[in-house]
Amino acid sequence: MNVLVVGGAGYIGSHCVRQLAQAGHRPVVVDNMVYGHRAAVAPEIPLYDAQIGDESAMRAILESEKIEVVMHFAAYAYVGESVSDPLKYYFNNSVATYHLLRAMLDCGVKKFVFSSTCATYGDVEPPIVEETPQNPINPYGQTKLDVEHALRNIAPAHGLSFAAFRYFNAAGAAEDGSIGEDHNPETHLIPLVFDAATSKRENIQIFGTDYPTPDGTCLRDYVHVDDLSRAHIAVFEQLNQPGAALFYNLGTGTPTSVREVIAAVEQVTGMKVPTVEKPRRAGDPPALYADATKAKTELGWKVQYPTIGPIVETAWKWHKSHPNGYGS
Ligand code: UFG
Repeated sequence: MNVLVVGGAGYIGSHCVRQLAQAGHRPVVVDNMVYGHRAAVAPEIPLYDAQIGDESAMRAILESEKIEVVMHFAAYAYVGESVSDPLKYYFNNSVATYHLLRAMLDCGVKKFVFSSTCATYGDVEPPIVEETPQNPINPYGQTKLDVEHALRNIAPAHGLSFAAFRYFNAAGAAEDGSIGEDHNPETHLIPLVFDAATSKRENIQIFGTDYPTPDGTCLRDYVHVDDLSRAHIAVFEQLNQPGAALFYNLGTGTPTSVREVIAAVEQVTGMKVPTVEKPRRAGDPPALYADATKAKTELGWKVQYPTIGPIVETAWKWHKSHPNGYGS
């Protein structure tokens, strides 16, 4: 398949591009390079520096590259920033996506894979199934849910078939350590814990130790970025059904606490991680983990990294060789 990967120079997108190529597909990348990294995309893969909201630019690429499927990873994903600057998120994550969808339909491209998030659920009782009511507690989650709703309407009207994947906490890096996570600013737990272990920062702050969880810290479902990517390829067959509207949770189902993540980093690196206990971070639900039975049953999706240890091992391999990310 000729697959347009928008946001293909970002963290999850770049891992998916690599897997598409390995599976014999032909990925083409579009990225506006705000958060993307050129070095995350192999040089032989076409990379267009374009805005997904620019319909004429997107139509030109869709047509000249004979695109059959679009995978959409291009979004802002800082929950805190979405609260302080919601319009940035509404325009980039929702409005720009509607332009992309219109360009696709103009060109007769009717297969779409959308990166959604567990943040669409809000504060709910886990394990989370796809039918769990979605009540996002921040604008980031709302913008993703808005697109899900739009897709539900667009699919039957235009014969668009789509899959919306609700990711839990994406983590880890490619096995060979050549591509990985590089956000600026970095806010995610695992890379920050590495920085504390290697004295790049003084310590890791633990946000909240009084949650109603076994060790008092938040529980999350860390899912390997290559496991996420595999689901995107496994769904191709389902997209052959015009009008298919598919929603899947992608998580391991294993709840892992902040303290367990820190312990896994200490174990994998052999280094001590200095910690400081802090109050809860605004907007953090106590526990978010998936029931991903639907993806496993319908897509034959298999999680190759079900626990935090091996996920951290891959992330460490990347971090060790790229202490300053792609700028290393
Ligand atoms: N945490 C700390 N200290 C830190 C950073 C994080 O204790 O310095 C804690 C957080 O409070 C949370 C856990 O580590 O309990 C994970 O935090 P991350 O920031 O790594 O990830 P989030 O769960 O906040 O966010 C992720 C994605 C978002 C997505 C969200 C859905 O990054 O894009 O999951 O819940 F919206």
